[in-house]
Amino acid sequence: MSSEFAPWNSAHLSYRAVEQDDETGVLYQLGRDAEAFNNAVPFMPTPQGSNAAKSYKTYLESCLLGVIICVTPSTPAKIESYQPSHPDPGEAVGVLTLTGPGQGREHHGRADIAISILAPHRGKGYGSEAIQWALCWGFSFARLHRIGIGAIEFNKSAKKLYLKLGFAEESVKRDFAWKYGRWWSFWEASMLEDEWRGKYGSTISYASYMPIE
Ligand SMILES: CC(C)(COP(=O)(O)OP(=O)(O)OC[C@H]1O[C@@H](n2cnc3c(N)ncnc32)[C@H](O)[C@@H]1OP(=O)(O)O)[C@@H](O)C(=O)NCCC(=O)NCCS
Repeated sequence: MSSEFAPWNSAHLSYRAVEQDDETGVLYQLGRDAEAFNNAVPFMPTPQGSNAAKSYKTYLESCLLGVIICVTPSTPAKIESYQPSHPDPGEAVGVLTLTGPGQGREHHGRADIAISILAPHRGKGYGSEAIQWALCWGFSFARLHRIGIGAIEFNKSAKKLYLKLGFAEESVKRDFAWKYGRWWSFWEASMLEDEWRGKYGSTISYASYMPIE
């Protein structure tokens, strides 16, 4: 991740709001991506069409943070990158959400991350970069205290990635999900505000994005 943190950008990625076009674009593609669907979605794997993409859009809009992850075409000027209406946020490659505990429970300061990157774009570092950005957003802008993440038992590479990023292993929910003809457990981990500051805090600066006095 860039050492200079902007609310809607990291080193190679930008994060934008979900738009109408996404119903036929990235959200539709994610619904048709079997690995993304089976790893990240709790629903029965029925074929996903445009109505499902519409519901996905509604869901993203209901989250504490629901963004489309885009690969920034070229490094924009710092001041431009601060604009939410940057003309070209880049190719949409995935989705990231932070879901909080719900209305009336905001004071607990916790949220959970979920992420899906489209198959052709996996393994290029985008997932790691987006998660690190979301941690920074959550702790620096949303005043969260705890951010959770999890993976279904068979998603060993995701678990390895989350541990590498500094999430601490917490619990295993036994026989939590039925997929591929058997029960699977669900592994959970989290990062606390202080742990994040210890691991990433010293590498992040907001200076160039703050108003000039
Ligand atoms: C898990 C996921 C978000 C990681 O994002 P990514 O952009 O592929 O990850 P990165 O490139 O930053 O990191 C790659 C690491 O993730 C691991 N990884 C996890 N799932 C992977 C996948 N399906 N393809 C490629 N790499 C994957 C690799 O083993 C790699 O580890 P390494 O650095 O030790 O080699 C992404 O692969 C994905 O969307 N997978 C399908 C949906 C999913 O599993 N979502 C998470 C639900 S818990």
